Amino acid sequence: MIQPDFTVLYAAHLATMKQRADEALARGGFDHLVVPSGTSHYQLFDDRDYPYAVNPQFKAWLPLTRVPHSWLVYTPGERPKVIFHQPFDYWHVVPAAPSGWWVEHFDIHIIRKPEDALALLPRPAARCAILGEAQSTLGAATAEQYAPNNPDAVINYLEYQRSYKTPYEIALMREAQQLGVRGHRAAEAAFREGASEFAIHMAYCSAVGQDLGELPYNNIVALNEHGAVLHYTELGRTAPAPVRSFLIDAGASFHGYASDITRTYAMDTTGEFQALIDAVDSAQVAMAQGVRAGVDYRQLHIDAHLALMGILRDFGVITVSPEAALETGVSAAFFPHGLGHPIGLQVHDVAGFAETDRGGKIARPPGHPYLRMTRVLEPGMVVTIEPGLYFIDMLLDEVRQNGLAASVDWARVDAFRPYGGIRIEDEVLCTDGDADNLTRPAFAANA
Ligand code: GLY
Ligand code: MN
Ligand code: MN
Repeated sequence: MIQPDFTVLYAAHLATMKQRADEALARGGFDHLVVPSGTSHYQLFDDRDYPYAVNPQFKAWLPLTRVPHSWLVYTPGERPKVIFHQPFDYWHVVPAAPSGWWVEHFDIHIIRKPEDALALLPRPAARCAILGEAQSTLGAATAEQYAPNNPDAVINYLEYQRSYKTPYEIALMREAQQLGVRGHRAAEAAFREGASEFAIHMAYCSAVGQDLGELPYNNIVALNEHGAVLHYTELGRTAPAPVRSFLIDAGASFHGYASDITRTYAMDTTGEFQALIDAVDSAQVAMAQGVRAGVDYRQLHIDAHLALMGILRDFGVITVSPEAALETGVSAAFFPHGLGHPIGLQVHDVAGFAETDRGGKIARPPGHPYLRMTRVLEPGMVVTIEPGLYFIDMLLDEVRQNGLAASVDWARVDAFRPYGGIRIEDEVLCTDGDADNLTRPAFAANA
């Protein structure tokens, strides 16, 4: 693959970020944008810190994910400033000196102690929109204090605009796909060798070169019935016998951008569960092609229910029409989560429900409480498309209790229950024309 020129792409991205900040500050009535990178959090009654998680508003500007106590400062018309915390510290590895495609665009001030930032922040504090967590507050309340105020007008505008990924962001997200797929290939190989969930997880992390501190979310590595637990993160230390099926939902990070990929495998590639996987896979490809400008994501979600119920009917699991299954809630027992969500700097990215860039929320369709995206698609948006079918006793019991037992062929449920479930998940970019599936080409390139 030809490496994109991140230097050129970043310059254009930064220009976009400045334009967005100009408008956000005008709307909020502020003169300066001030964004702390964030600080470490400690466990209660302990000196152990949780993995540091950078402020997404900070990494939106800079490909820096491991520089706590640093600050981004932007004043319209002026060169942006980075206050870069590089402590004198012999306990920890300190951040390396600033380098890379971003440095030429900023005035960079190295500080050795967090409080040294105070003298470098724009004055007065009251004229600053400060986007961050309360713990980043600098300065005493009696003097000039920089406490994050997170003005709604500023946040609403910036988060809404983050829906539209710049070419720089798309390029980074493609790299995150490549990394994730490398892990998925290693994980499938480990599964085929009969490895435990824990060993598969280790194979994944090793291939990606990332572990819990860097991965965009906790890996879901589920063998057999565990595939029916939507967020299964237990990582069993021994493999079950026999190993029948494998659901892996795992991503990777690249300069702060996430991938979020799910695949499902059958050990017996000639059996009926493999056939069900293949049917969901084909349906997922078609759903991903539905990511087009002007399409309401809520409609894609409803259409996905109908497509999945068509598959269950073809396989004899339900006895009613897809429309009837959707209407009665039987469909939601087999597909109990949303079709997907926006993705970018965060796995579940912001503004999935945003009505406008000034606020407001677009409601979920009634009966679909877990959908995380309710907007009409526009070019530049990246969403996941992640249909699934699961055999979850708790939800199937509710089907029985709701007097809908006749809608299901329970012998067929019994046949599939030992395999847990199926989910297939890709990231898809909405363009002016056809959908651009970011995930499938990465699998094709790493066959
Ligand atoms: N991995 C979490 C999700 O798919 O949303
Ligand atoms: Mn997802
Ligand atoms: Mn996922």
